[in-house]
Amino acid sequence: MHLIAPSLLASDFLHLEKECKMVNESQADWFHLDVMDGRFVPNISFGIPIIEHIRKVANKPCDVHLMIEEPEKLTEAFRKAGADHIIVHIETCPNLHSNIQQIRALGMQPGVAINPHTPVEALFDILEDLHHVCVMSVNPGFGGQVFIPHTLKKIRDLKKAIHERGLHVLIEVDGGVTVDNARSILHAGADVLVAGNTVFKSPDPKEVISQLKSIEV
Ligand code: DX5
Ligand code: ZN
Repeated sequence: MHLIAPSLLASDFLHLEKECKMVNESQADWFHLDVMDGRFVPNISFGIPIIEHIRKVANKPCDVHLMIEEPEKLTEAFRKAGADHIIVHIETCPNLHSNIQQIRALGMQPGVAINPHTPVEALFDILEDLHHVCVMSVNPGFGGQVFIPHTLKKIRDLKKAIHERGLHVLIEVDGGVTVDNARSILHAGADVLVAGNTVFKSPDPKEVISQLKSIEV
């Protein structure tokens, strides 16, 4: 069964507690929390103090997506704020293997995100150390963008590589996921769907989460 990770980036920040409770009561599996530094990506979102508050209300694992340079400097602080998973970008980590070891040593599950232009093969030699790969299906930095179709091939190639190695690494797909394209994304091999605008800009977010969860491939 695939997992659903609503991205709080598209939620109503004035009513974060209410939004978190909606996710708690829904069929969602993880909270997806997007942290941006205005350097690696051309936008700034939220950081450690907000995640601390979300963690007090959230009753599901918090999947923290770090779109920041030098993530190793803040990994421990995000752990203290309550992160369960940390996703770092391959593009910001020249010493990716040690970043992953650090995340594990702090008791969290490591994920690695990969931008649309980065070949997925760049991850093959590190797959066995990962909990999940976050395949970016938009350019990181903003919610509400359109899904980039060539991502489907990346998902298929990654799935094949994971399968050939006999691994259980999850494939998370992040950006432009809708109720309409979710089935083809799952069919390509996705295990986790991140959805921001599709969930939070809907008049009935819980129902949308339930629709995404019940898609059969
Ligand atoms: C983009 C973020 C995504 C974003 C997805 O940089 O990593 O998690 O919130 O938003 P939607 O689902 O609206 O494309
Ligand atoms: Zn994200």
